[in-house]
Amino acid sequence: MPGATNLKDNNTLENIVKKQASEGRLYAAICAAPAVALGSWGLLKGLKATCYPAFMEQLSSSATTVESRVQQDGTAITSRGPGTAMEYSVALVEQLFGKERADEVAGPLLMLSKHDGQFIVTELNKLQWTSSSVPKILVPIADGSEEMEAVMIIDVLRRAKAEVVVASVGNKLEIVASRKVKLVADMLLDEAAKHSYDLIVLPGGLGGAQAFADSETLVNLLKKQSESDRYYGAICASPALVLEPHGLLKGKKATAFPAMCNKLSDPSEAESRVVVDGKLITSRGPGTSIEFALAIVEKFLGHEKALEIAKAMLVV
Ligand SMILES: *[C@@H]1O[C@H](CO)[C@@H](O)[C@H](O)[C@H]1NC(C)=O
Repeated sequence: MPGATNLKDNNTLENIVKKQASEGRLYAAICAAPAVALGSWGLLKGLKATCYPAFMEQLSSSATTVESRVQQDGTAITSRGPGTAMEYSVALVEQLFGKERADEVAGPLLMLSKHDGQFIVTELNKLQWTSSSVPKILVPIADGSEEMEAVMIIDVLRRAKAEVVVASVGNKLEIVASRKVKLVADMLLDEAAKHSYDLIVLPGGLGGAQAFADSETLVNLLKKQSESDRYYGAICASPALVLEPHGLLKGKKATAFPAMCNKLSDPSEAESRVVVDGKLITSRGPGTSIEFALAIVEKFLGHEKALEIAKAMLVV
């Protein structure tokens, strides 16, 4: 919100979606949008539908509400929130291309399979992470970065009210992520490198990780981070392609994207979804990125805060 209201208020969109529905083609909405947009347009009448918990009452006046994480009824597909977005997207792939393609897409995402009120973090050399009053966090992005990982890290940490600086490793603020989503950084890395951070955390994506490994500024920043005993982390391709070759995993246990784990010098924790080893945190892929970000929140701000955010996002 207010994105869903903005969608609802747009007549062009309303007409497109109404036409879509009347022609028997698929239409879908998640979070506040099933109630705020589809419901108020009368497109869920007599159908089972779900939405973000706080909008269920509003939805109940225009649909039969159910608490499924993803609900299909006829050609309408609805879902609940950020933590259900991946299941929802895979359900859309299944409707459009069939089960086989959906399984092909879902496999490498490494989605969380259980939602039983907890997320699992493997922790070695346990210590309390401390920070300035508000944790200051640098998230570098580059062309080819994995958009889900970048956005999840930024989104979750901003929900936790951390100060997140998104810096472009390149000569423009705008980057084109691995699936062609355009992201706009807050500043260029050269500018960001003038400040110091409690944590530097790298999203993955093959092209992005390669650009990180090739950036002298970023590698120096990471080395300085490690030498000055501050926190750093990486997910997906980045532990193997950035941290490992620059000696930043020396003597530490880490995980990475499954196909990259053979590059880790110590792969003994490779199967864990999130690994914290002292001041280092690593994780596996898009489907583990929320847990990865929640683990960072937990280390800086405690378990209660992390769980509160996990619940509000419908992760657990
Ligand atoms: C709806 O969105 C389209 C595309 O951005 C825009 O051209 C149009 O003016 C909007 N209509 C309303 C009523 O806001």
